[in-house]
Amino acid sequence: MAIREILIYPDDLLAQVAMPVADPASDEIKALVQDMADTMYNAPGVGLAAPQIGVSLRVAITDTDWRSGRYDEIDEDKKVAPERNLKVWINPEFLWHSDALQTFEEGCLSVPEIYEDIERPAAVRLRWYDLQGVQHEKDFEDFLAVALQHEFDHLDGKLFVDYLSPLKRKMIRKKLVKFYKK
Ligand code: NI
Repeated sequence: MAIREILIYPDDLLAQVAMPVADPASDEIKALVQDMADTMYNAPGVGLAAPQIGVSLRVAITDTDWRSGRYDEIDEDKKVAPERNLKVWINPEFLWHSDALQTFEEGCLSVPEIYEDIERPAAVRLRWYDLQGVQHEKDFEDFLAVALQHEFDHLDGKLFVDYLSPLKRKMIRKKLVKFYKK
């Protein structure tokens, strides 16, 4: 159990395509997910992908129940929300995207204090593995569909700022280099 350092954009490791996990039920992946959860809840955030802590594997976690004002309830000493609903996604693969789009304001622990409206498919069908090595398939919509697309972009070396104009991206890069890369 450990809180790991979150890589900040721009960082070469955030731009790498991550490798598939060979054995989702292994102790190594359980330990990785535990570190990721500690890191995400501590930040706090609603999602984290392994490349964000410098591990180039196709693993992501989310807890979107933390959204909608739940931050108010976080105990400042412990930084732990009253209830956790951690979801683990290993080797996730989209089988389908809806033609319908939706726009949400997105942020990212690797792009601190930057929030931008991003348009993405409103619904997705996903196949993934859990920590027991069991494969699942399910449709998602609304905020979870956004969160999953955002997290799994990380596994392909892509960040939400990559959807913005080159000029806007350049300004964000400059700002983050100034404040976080001293
Ligand atoms: Ni992110």
